[in-house]
Amino acid sequence: MTKRENFGSRATVIMAMAGSAIGLGNIWRFPFIVGEYGGAAFILVYIVCCFFLSMPILLSESIIGRRTHQGTFGAMNTLAPGSAWKWLGLLTIFSPLIILSYYSVVGGWSFAFLCKALALEFKPENAGAVTAMFGDFSSSTWGPLGCMAIFLVLTALIVYLGVNKGIEKFSKISIPVLFVLIVIIAIYSITLPGSGEGVRYLVKPDFSKLTPRAYAAALGQSFFSLSLGVGTMLTYSSYVRKDENILASAAGTAFFDLLFAILAGFAVMPAVFAAGIAPSSGPGLVFETLPFIFSKMGSGGQIISASVSILFFLTILVAALSSSISMMEVGVAYLVEEKGLYRRKATALLFCVTFVIGALCSLSFGSLSGVKLLGQTIFNFCDRLCSNFLMTVGALLFSLFVGWRMDKAAVKDELTNGGTLKGSARLFPVIYFLVKYVAPVTIAVIFIIGIIG
Ligand code: PHE
Repeated sequence: MTKRENFGSRATVIMAMAGSAIGLGNIWRFPFIVGEYGGAAFILVYIVCCFFLSMPILLSESIIGRRTHQGTFGAMNTLAPGSAWKWLGLLTIFSPLIILSYYSVVGGWSFAFLCKALALEFKPENAGAVTAMFGDFSSSTWGPLGCMAIFLVLTALIVYLGVNKGIEKFSKISIPVLFVLIVIIAIYSITLPGSGEGVRYLVKPDFSKLTPRAYAAALGQSFFSLSLGVGTMLTYSSYVRKDENILASAAGTAFFDLLFAILAGFAVMPAVFAAGIAPSSGPGLVFETLPFIFSKMGSGGQIISASVSILFFLTILVAALSSSISMMEVGVAYLVEEKGLYRRKATALLFCVTFVIGALCSLSFGSLSGVKLLGQTIFNFCDRLCSNFLMTVGALLFSLFVGWRMDKAAVKDELTNGGTLKGSARLFPVIYFLVKYVAPVTIAVIFIIGIIG
């Protein structure tokens, strides 16, 4: 078997993890949730969630992954041999594959809309056909399937190239590029006439909207955005060298993810308000309305506004890819390490599995729209299953594992690199308390409130 690869440096660890974190969740989910649940008041709750609940989970996954240098299944078997914890290992191989399947449908749409933007299809005179263009495309059969296949091929190709030549290299280039792009789009959006209302929508705190559901939404969003509870961060951490500071990389990852989400808010919402459109959630607004807003509002002429559309869909596509590779890597690590498959075979196999499930998700916008699972279309069912249930359960179990099953000395040893990291050692009591008590209890309570509230 070939030698296990490691990420090259602290910066590349953060880039790879931020790559997994920064994705569709930041671009189309975050801005709308913020407005729906009270603007700046929600952002405050979200930041508290990130640092007191999501960070402990990210650290739990980092500790397990780096301790064992194995993927989810192997790690659980090494740390708790012969126990029921292996089911957590198995669950977290299965859940990222489901996410990858429906995520690839949206990844395929981004590819298709990037092509449309390049072909200058988003012209002001076409504005009347806004909804029709997205609706017609997503409900058709072959176009979305072909684009999803292209998105999955790109994902599989990067993963096949390996941890250093594929994932690390892609993230090292894409993350700085993504930040530059989103800043350009945000500046454009904020300078559109009439954008002030959109800025207010994001920054005006409305505490009356902080209902129990808002807390559940903040938690769910922060888990989804930081790719938690499904073993992706665990798997990436298994490629982190023993002398790296995992507390610093986790903090860096959370910081960049949050920053990107806020920038995305300023890229999307001011444009939406400038066009006088009511904000609604989901991919619809991003794919139906934004390209036309950009072309219609065109400050600075047609060329600039057409370029903004191109940059916008490029941003979505690259951000989606940097996340999808992390989802596929979880399964690849399992097949290579536990089943002895070559990387090439493992990626090909996972490509096929996700393509089949993804195809069902894609067709659920068209010919399979009548097929319902628990009252939901296949796409929505997969999304709800993962983001409302599997991620939360996974996150809860990871924190319980590190807090209650692992030896406290081993946890401290891993977080402080054998006691050599003085800062981490000083913070250890607080972090351990968060992992052992605060995170599991709060996650369980919010989870239940979210269901019944
Ligand atoms: N964090 C990614 C996003 O915001 C989604 C994701 C979820 C990635 C789970 C990996 C695992 O889009």
